[in-house]
Amino acid sequence: MGALSAPPVIAIDGPTASGKGTVAALVAKALGFHYLDSGALYRLVALASEREGISSTNAYFLSKLAESMPVAFQGGQILLGEEDVSELIRTEAIGLRASEIAVHPELRQALVRLQHGFRQNPGLVADGRDMASVIFPDARLKVFLTASVAARAERRYKQLIAKGFSANMEDLLHDLKQRDARDSNRGSAPLVVAEGAKVLDTSDLSIDQAVKQVIGWYQSLAECAQ
Ligand code: DC
Repeated sequence: MGALSAPPVIAIDGPTASGKGTVAALVAKALGFHYLDSGALYRLVALASEREGISSTNAYFLSKLAESMPVAFQGGQILLGEEDVSELIRTEAIGLRASEIAVHPELRQALVRLQHGFRQNPGLVADGRDMASVIFPDARLKVFLTASVAARAERRYKQLIAKGFSANMEDLLHDLKQRDARDSNRGSAPLVVAEGAKVLDTSDLSIDQAVKQVIGWYQSLAECAQ
């Protein structure tokens, strides 16, 4: 599909717990677009591979598993086979394992086709680390959504407590910094501010303000294109 005829994409990348998932889902809803939570795919491979006893260093088996994984996104639910794993993949342990396995280029490649499949009319909002740089380099709008480490740790703490998981602020700060470092310094598709991306620091913004800003940017681009 050529870039001119392909459905438009809004790519929202950023570090862990920056709020990009919440913002991306709300932007998609407001515009009536599809939504891709690419981090969920890495989390699904992390969960499935742990269950199968596959080591986080075994790039070959991880990518084979990713290619054959029975995944479905249904409404708000994420299914692995028949099982609803929406909550199970949100733990810190699975997030850390996802970050560990995401360093392998073979696994990243195995997930490309699945991600491209989400690009459907009338458009797609995709969130992750490499949406703008690698998966959808022709995205109409590229946003790098970030927030201070302290703000992100606090948000993650509240999220975990609200879901009934136990959480410790010091451990969370440590885990966030560890994941930031690994996601940003890996050789394959590291987290970067893509060329042409607009940076949005949400440390002092509400979710609503962040959503409005992204939609505002998208609409002004659409007006310029007319
Ligand atoms: O966005 P998240 O916290 O759910 O992502 C979990 C991990 O998956 C993240 O630490 C790195 C990896 N990931 C990635 O490498 N590329 C993406 N596009 C999305 C996530």
